[in-house]
Amino acid sequence: MPLRRNGVVLRDVTEDDFAQIQPIYAHHVLHGAASFEEIPPDVAEMRSRFAALKAKNMPYMAAVEDGRILGYAYAGPYRTRPAYRYTVEDSIYLLPDQAGKGLGKLLLSEIIARCTAQGFRQMIAIIGDSNNAGSINLHRALGFAMIGTFPAVGFKFGRWIDSVLMQKALGPGQGSLPE
Ligand SMILES: CC(C)(COP(=O)(O)OP(=O)(O)OC[C@H]1O[C@@H](n2cnc3c(N)ncnc32)[C@H](O)[C@@H]1OP(=O)(O)O)[C@@H](O)C(=O)NCCC(=O)NCCS
Repeated sequence: MPLRRNGVVLRDVTEDDFAQIQPIYAHHVLHGAASFEEIPPDVAEMRSRFAALKAKNMPYMAAVEDGRILGYAYAGPYRTRPAYRYTVEDSIYLLPDQAGKGLGKLLLSEIIARCTAQGFRQMIAIIGDSNNAGSINLHRALGFAMIGTFPAVGFKFGRWIDSVLMQKALGPGQGSLPE
């Protein structure tokens, strides 16, 4: 069921959305340090990544206004080895002119709710760079704890870039063991 708030609809992404999602991500790859990619993936590659996530039933959502995608967010496995199976990593990107309006909170809250309902126990954010106040504050506002920083693990735009790690327990977290 799509969710609506102030004319913005939150809904599941479909394959057709990647004509709009690709340029959003490409902007952040080319101009920001949030992604450690340097060459933007094309629409076909983004669809293929999406299909891999959907095959695992992971949530992938867009915030849409009058048919225009303003931003998107998804969760995927944190790491592939089986003992990590209750842990997911989130990703979120908005059109540059849509930041700071609460859309990040709207989208990420829904991804958190879906992952919690699906039985995941921990969500990790791996944030580039230390100066990404928007992402750090978004995650903090939604209850993520600061775990620490890997300094200078990336090199982009001719400078070293940190990874900031944040984490949120979902549902019972490390409480009761899963069935
Ligand atoms: C990170 C991003 C998704 C945040 O979404 P957003 O819609 O701008 O965030 P919101 O408006 O929902 O704000 C969430 C919180 O962060 C704070 N915040 C948002 N932008 C901020 C900024 N630039 N500087 C400081 N704080 C900021 C808000 O004040 C709010 O905190 P509060 O609830 O305590 O008041 C968005 O800015 C973005 O797409 N950035 C570029 C890509 C990126 O960094 N993605 C994250 C990859 S890890």
